[in-house]
Amino acid sequence: MSSRPVSPKSLDELISSLERLNWDGRADLENIDFLVSSYQSNKSDWEKFAKTRPGDAYTRNHVFEKDGKFNVLILCWQPKQGSKIHGHQGSDCFLKVLQGEFKEEQFFMPEGEGCPLQLKQEKIYTLNEVNNMTDEKGLHRVTNNHDSILAVSLHVYVPPFAECRWYEEHNGKENIAQMSYYSYRGEIKGDSNALADSKSASMCKDGGSQCGDRSDARSCQAGSARAVCSREPCTGSGKTSGCGQCCHDTKQCSC
Ligand SMILES: [Fe+2]
Repeated sequence: MSSRPVSPKSLDELISSLERLNWDGRADLENIDFLVSSYQSNKSDWEKFAKTRPGDAYTRNHVFEKDGKFNVLILCWQPKQGSKIHGHQGSDCFLKVLQGEFKEEQFFMPEGEGCPLQLKQEKIYTLNEVNNMTDEKGLHRVTNNHDSILAVSLHVYVPPFAECRWYEEHNGKENIAQMSYYSYRGEIKGDSNALADSKSASMCKDGGSQCGDRSDARSCQAGSARAVCSREPCTGSGKTSGCGQCCHDTKQCSC
């Protein structure tokens, strides 16, 4: 290991300190962990990168990449929204809490398709804490643990990857998602996020009194900023209302 770097005082310093590490050969994971951990979140450093895409459960923003060695992302998570259960393509992922708090649920690698995923452990991460995740530890799902605050996380992936595997919890089925970014260096490009948990991605409009335009959005909780959604289609004599709610008579819908 090379000598211990100086603690970064800003996000810019963190990125330049990461760049200055020795990237020949094996990545210096110990010093990467030290740098990410010792940076203290300062909103004025990162808010220009922390974009949210309307309707996304969480939004991925690209901040920096050092030619295939590592990249730096800032992700914004709507209240109680999370990722799909996913792996990390052999990379090391360092997730630092910049705002709010997160729940991480770790799962064992699937035993085979058809078997439900088994929960290994779960942990809450609060401001400035760092989660280091690898495929050796299994899979995980990350969720904003708060029901009204936008959570923001900093991610350093060593090395970056262009696609990743995600898994269905009830049967272990493997899927591939392309990594996409809503913004680069603070400039919005507009890509949606294939790793977001779409079951809960719909937004309420008009202060929570109306659901978004997803066909499977059923109802909104009064006073909530978020739709409660279901993938259950209307069955039998059920009719879908203008807000996606399933009712026997759309006049009875509460939207
Ligand atoms: Fe992850």
